[in-house]
Amino acid sequence: MGKLAGKIAIVTGAARGNGEGAARVMAREGATVVLTDVLDMVHDTAKSIVNNGHKAISFKADVTKPAEVGSVVQEVRKRFGRVDILVNNAGVLKLVPLVDMTDDVLERMFNINVKGMFICTRAVLPGMIERKYGKIVNMSSVTGPIVADAGETAYAATKAAAWGFTKALAMEVAAYGINVNAICPGMIETDMVRQMAKETNPADPDSVIKTMAKGIPMGRLGTIEELGELVAFLASEESRYLTGTSIVIDGASTLPESNVMGVTC
Ligand SMILES: NC(=O)c1ccc[n+]([C@@H]2O[C@H](COP(=O)([O-])OP(=O)(O)OC[C@H]3O[C@@H](n4cnc5c(N)ncnc54)[C@H](O)[C@@H]3O)[C@@H](O)[C@H]2O)c1
Repeated sequence: MGKLAGKIAIVTGAARGNGEGAARVMAREGATVVLTDVLDMVHDTAKSIVNNGHKAISFKADVTKPAEVGSVVQEVRKRFGRVDILVNNAGVLKLVPLVDMTDDVLERMFNINVKGMFICTRAVLPGMIERKYGKIVNMSSVTGPIVADAGETAYAATKAAAWGFTKALAMEVAAYGINVNAICPGMIETDMVRQMAKETNPADPDSVIKTMAKGIPMGRLGTIEELGELVAFLASEESRYLTGTSIVIDGASTLPESNVMGVTC
């Protein structure tokens, strides 16, 4: 029996990348996983999980649209009676220097990365409070809470917001037996990172990925499976006394003091 046997989990942004990794591992651990995304591909990802012998269904839903999120949650409650786990994963990244940032880009990043988390969490929380049980996992990043680069003002601010949201919500619901935690990934090899590499060096994005890997003490980017395993842990009873915290998963990319000192010991 997997550590999530019998649990009902919603994952946002689950068509690909980290959301897909979270959905695949949680399904393997016995959860019935509800994959949501704005991309049609979400149905293929869910189908492939089912073809592996696990339980998954999918919905096209935009985290910024309360009516779409509400109808997914209503349908899940109708079919399964409850939502045990919510993984707020949907997110977007655009590298733009602040002087060039349009309101549209700024609003899109905040709407999806921050407001989407509020909308999805608000939709599942009353049921969790009523049943005095729930696990909420929010996808933050090392970018914002720990590190940042030029071009990341908006993205870093949204990911720091996810961390603040996690702490305050954990306080609101601790008494109801609901755990709220955040994950701060470093570089996980997904379309988001591949796109960032393309924007950095359109002629040779692979060289950007290789350079990233060289800068990570473990010598490589993380996989969506490794990210999924951390999500499954935070969604399980193994982490029942963990709340209001965040876990960095970055192959030690944020660790080296030598980067600052300019020396290697
Ligand atoms: N990949 C990394 O290295 C990394 C590092 C730190 C944090 N993260 C975070 O992990 C999360 C997933 O990122 P990823 O790397 O897998 O990116 P990705 O682009 O591969 O996947 C993101 C998914 O979110 C979906 N999405 C976008 N807007 C949506 C919306 N409005 N409603 C529903 N779904 C929507 C996309 O369609 C896509 O399937 C993001 O929150 C990101 O900020 C990623």
